[in-house]
Amino acid sequence: MLYDVIVLGGGPGGYVAAERAGHAGLKVLLIEQRALGGTCLNEGCIPSKALLNSSKIYHYTTEYGQKYGVYCEGSRIDQKAVVARKEKVIKTLVSGVAAAMKANHVEVLNTTGMIRGRSAEGIEVEADGNVYTCKNLIIATGSKASVPPIPGVKEGIASGFVMTNREALALQELPKRLVVIGGGVIGLELAAYYGVVGCETSVVEMLPKIAGPIDDEISALLQKGYEKDGMKFYLGAKVVRVDPDGVVYEKDGKEEKIVCDKVLLAIGRKPVADTCGVEKLNIQVERGAIVVDECCRTNAVNVYAVGDCNGKSMLAHSAYRMGEVAVNTILGRKDRMRLKAIPSVLYTNPEVGCVGMTEAQAKAAGIDTAVVKLPMVYAGRYVAENEGGNGIAKFIFDKKYKTLVGAHVMSNYSSEFILACGIMIEKEMTVDAIREIVFPHPSVSEIIREAAFAVQL
Ligand code: NAI
Repeated sequence: MLYDVIVLGGGPGGYVAAERAGHAGLKVLLIEQRALGGTCLNEGCIPSKALLNSSKIYHYTTEYGQKYGVYCEGSRIDQKAVVARKEKVIKTLVSGVAAAMKANHVEVLNTTGMIRGRSAEGIEVEADGNVYTCKNLIIATGSKASVPPIPGVKEGIASGFVMTNREALALQELPKRLVVIGGGVIGLELAAYYGVVGCETSVVEMLPKIAGPIDDEISALLQKGYEKDGMKFYLGAKVVRVDPDGVVYEKDGKEEKIVCDKVLLAIGRKPVADTCGVEKLNIQVERGAIVVDECCRTNAVNVYAVGDCNGKSMLAHSAYRMGEVAVNTILGRKDRMRLKAIPSVLYTNPEVGCVGMTEAQAKAAGIDTAVVKLPMVYAGRYVAENEGGNGIAKFIFDKKYKTLVGAHVMSNYSSEFILACGIMIEKEMTVDAIREIVFPHPSVSEIIREAAFAVQL
């Protein structure tokens, strides 16, 4: 059977590519060995948001809610019910992906696909002993949690003491004491859940700050907020060993141990580029990632790689867009992946939404910057809804072109309105044009308007 496109991997990169290609009338086969939806739907973005919503609701039933005049007696978390609801959410969305495949005439195989090589007809992929041939191949094999060579980690994973995001999203019982290794995105989002629902949660981070590349001030404020909820942070602390009853870290040349009941390992993810036979087509792989150009083309003719497996921007929304870029390129439509305004969000409580450059990045790029820093209390809705909130927003403008080049916001709803800043950056809107936009009132997003009027260029 000859297909126009075979897609290997049914996560956000793969299923969107398959959907768009099918919609355009191409004959498409999607091969996925696990569940449709990939990491994002099954053990990443979506399940973590489901859990976090339970902890947010619970948070309002505690002393925090009393600030709003709300008193709840006897509120408790039923971890099994939280996880069961999360499963329901996943099921709904995974069946939505299956329906989208069907609606766009995409054939789906639930098995592992391996590249066999090229024939006169096209690229050959083997699955379940059958050979499928295609004119174009899109590799979308995703990423996996990094497992470092730290003594005790492998044994801990085998015994269930050490979890990756996968297990941490499915725990049926709440641990009394949790240590999170890595204060990056996954570590902080899951700490935001476990810390609020009553686990004594400690985060051990090698760097002197949490949340990696985000703005230093926002990172410090976020940490302060977490500490208010009782979480502990060990910064500049490198985990050197995992014992059967705890985590040993080294700080300033001294070793200390944190005793706990469970450990979450969240020290980063790495592209999966070696499980589908890329060597059969001599596809170039560098530092574990498939090398692609801005159209997501690999060095092998008619072979594309989208999403985490190319390591360019390991986010579900980037993967969607890369899937579309690859399909448009196959269809002969002019398109390319632009990375300058990819929003990134930490779904912590409060959320942090960022897009574009930080002040340091803009300066390093030689931009003459004007920085506006505003407390979120400049937005009326924020004050009404965030008793004692310490949110801030930072906007970086380019003085020469009078454009916005970066926005960094710590506030509820920033995940939703950071997109507006992304559009302004992507479309290179001038401050004058931004000032003409009418924002809904009252809305937290009005902070953008405040910044546009506060900036002096
Ligand atoms: P990360 O790269 O964000 O953070 C890992 C942290 O672990 C770093 O701060 C690093 O310094 C620290 N670390 C490494 N080795 C250590 C050691 N031995 N001891 C102590 N600390 C150590 O990686 P994370 O959180 O695992 O997330 C992986 C990826 O998943 C992200 O880069 C992102 O692409 C994606 N993701 C995105 C989300 C979002 O957009 N909301 C949510 C979850 C994941």
